[in-house]
Amino acid sequence: MRKTKYDVMPEIKRRFANRAIREQTVPWETLEALAEAASLAPSCFNEQPWRFLIATDERKEKLLATLTPQNQEWAGKAPALVLTAAKKTFTQGGKNNRWYMSDAGCAAGFFILEAERRGLVAHPMAGFDRAAAQEAFQLDADLEIVHVMAVGYPGDPSLLSERNQARNHPNTRKPLEDILL
Ligand SMILES: Cc1cc2nc3c(=O)[nH]c(=O)nc-3n(C[C@H](O)[C@H](O)[C@H](O)COP(=O)(O)O)c2cc1C
Repeated sequence: MRKTKYDVMPEIKRRFANRAIREQTVPWETLEALAEAASLAPSCFNEQPWRFLIATDERKEKLLATLTPQNQEWAGKAPALVLTAAKKTFTQGGKNNRWYMSDAGCAAGFFILEAERRGLVAHPMAGFDRAAAQEAFQLDADLEIVHVMAVGYPGDPSLLSERNQARNHPNTRKPLEDILL
């Protein structure tokens, strides 16, 4: 549990980018529940530009193949990989939505925290081949891939490579003074 100066939600304090994930199936309803939590995020004009491709089994293997070898090494154990995408234009009027990434990021935050509340890990990754993921899933041209999350139950850290064991802990944060303008 991280230490904070002020009182903060326990899920926020507990969460970290855990790479130790157990090879155990997560029920589909649980994965959908995480997407539902994400769908409750705020968005500009209530556009809800986020989209989630929940990949298990064959689709997971297809998505896993697009990850960097470093990410494949630990994320391959996760029973689900979730590709987050975001719609770049407003549905009403078709203008560019300047806030699509921000809204999708906020939704992913809700997803991650609901996972934490349920005793699951949801670890976002930028280390994947975007073009290969697009090729594999043929997403609509108006969607941009944001990231891929490894989702599963926390596993035994001693099964990670030495390098990953050494970095499998909550990272430090800038002091509050550095982020307050
Ligand atoms: C958009 C994004 C991309 C990330 N990409 C990766 C990644 O490719 N591989 C990885 O192991 N961790 C990845 N991370 C996890 C970060 O390294 C981690 O969140 C950060 O170091 C802070 O650590 P903490 O989440 O444990 O506090 C990513 C996180 C975010 C939000």
